[in-house]
Amino acid sequence: MMAWEQPLMERHASYICPRPGLRVLNVGFGMGIVDTELQKLGPASHTIVEAHPDVLARMRDQGWPDKPGVRIVSGRWQDVVADLGPFDGDDLDLHSFHAHLPRLLAPGGRYAFYNGMCPDNVFFHAVACEVVRLRLLRLGLRCTFRPLPVKVDDAKLWQGVRDRYWHFDTYYLPEVCRPRRRTASQPRRRWMPVPRFEIQSASSFRKLLNVNDKTFDDVESRACEVRACEVRACEVRACESDPRQ
Ligand SMILES: C[S@@+](CC[C@H](N)C(=O)[O-])C[C@H]1O[C@@H](n2cnc3c(N)ncnc32)[C@H](O)[C@@H]1O
Repeated sequence: MMAWEQPLMERHASYICPRPGLRVLNVGFGMGIVDTELQKLGPASHTIVEAHPDVLARMRDQGWPDKPGVRIVSGRWQDVVADLGPFDGDDLDLHSFHAHLPRLLAPGGRYAFYNGMCPDNVFFHAVACEVVRLRLLRLGLRCTFRPLPVKVDDAKLWQGVRDRYWHFDTYYLPEVCRPRRRTASQPRRRWMPVPRFEIQSASSFRKLLNVNDKTFDDVESRACEVRACEVRACEVRACESDPRQ
């Protein structure tokens, strides 16, 4: 984590714990930035799942086991998740974990994950966000992406960093929520066909993510490139299926 990410982690924490007295879960302590923010928000219980022995040792040295409401679960989330929950808010990573969310989240519970998907290509980032949103929808969870400005264009910021892992001037905070109860307009939990989006212009992509940001200015040209590839792929398939060719 770098300094520019601190305000983002604050937003993660305040989204999943919007008021004191809630039960929260964070998977992956790392530098403890999210957990430090969560502590400030006065959760009733604060469960932290962490797998790495060195990180666990640092947590002990820093007195985390004695902080209010804190319960440290040592191990990989994959091995311990069955014994966790329900929570009002939690914070983690992706699809395999998401399958557990309907059970982990209490009705009205919130979830966010660090949105570092495809961080060097805004077109693929948008696609990845949309895939996550649709998958969560199938699980009966609502997901929107809140655009937050970030300033990462100063080359000095990345000096000594082997792989620059963020390139946009906007971070899209995933705000996921388990609705309190299903309404008629919410989908039943059943298989749905993935909609086929016609990606023709930047404006349709803005609509897709419901954002209006200059980060998407280059989407149109990228979408054209993708469509050109699709057309070429169709031509190849046509050649293969036509015995005269
Ligand atoms: C990028 S750091 C998280 C940063 C953290 N959000 C913060 O605010 O500092 C990832 C952490 O997740 C832990 N971790 C990675 N895979 C894990 C797993 N399968 N189960 C539990 N913890 C895991 C790592 O040991 C590391 O401490």
